[in-house]
Amino acid sequence: MNTTVPDKERRSASEIPKLSRRDVLKGVALLGAVLLLLPAEKLAQFLLAPRETGPVAYPRTRIANSKDVPVNESVLFEYPHKDRPAVLIHLSDGFVAYDSMCTHLGCQVHYDKVPVLGWENNSQQIFCPCHGGVFDPKTGSVLSGPPPRPLPKIKLEIDGQGDIYAVSYEGNLPLYGES
Ligand code: FES
Repeated sequence: MNTTVPDKERRSASEIPKLSRRDVLKGVALLGAVLLLLPAEKLAQFLLAPRETGPVAYPRTRIANSKDVPVNESVLFEYPHKDRPAVLIHLSDGFVAYDSMCTHLGCQVHYDKVPVLGWENNSQQIFCPCHGGVFDPKTGSVLSGPPPRPLPKIKLEIDGQGDIYAVSYEGNLPLYGES
């Protein structure tokens, strides 16, 4: 089989059209523009895509047994997922629980049955050590300090054996750092 190229189809190196420096720069600029616009288009698709607006399903998570948490004591737990701190508090009229990331800048809040010396004036409040935010343990509302909104309150269920479960949230408050 003859694989030689006929003479008339052969072109010398001088006949092959050369790309000018300007053409090369145009090509590079065009490629750069495509690479820049591609992620922007993907980002726009992500931002403009319709969002799921249905109710969020939260897990049912056992926190403790009621007989293990005396009145005026609190228990730290994680809800609705690992590494998300929450606090269960046994008040004189029952149990309450809150997301325990401060709504100001996300520090972890604590229920203090006695005031932290030099920081707090009142006992039995939810306290944020970062900037002195104070929350009402009955409602989660802000009593003082910079937090802009209440702590999200966790819905609880207690079964016949006294086991306390977190099941979802009351209201529709955003979780700090997740909304
Ligand atoms: S982070 Fe809680 S008061 Fe600032």
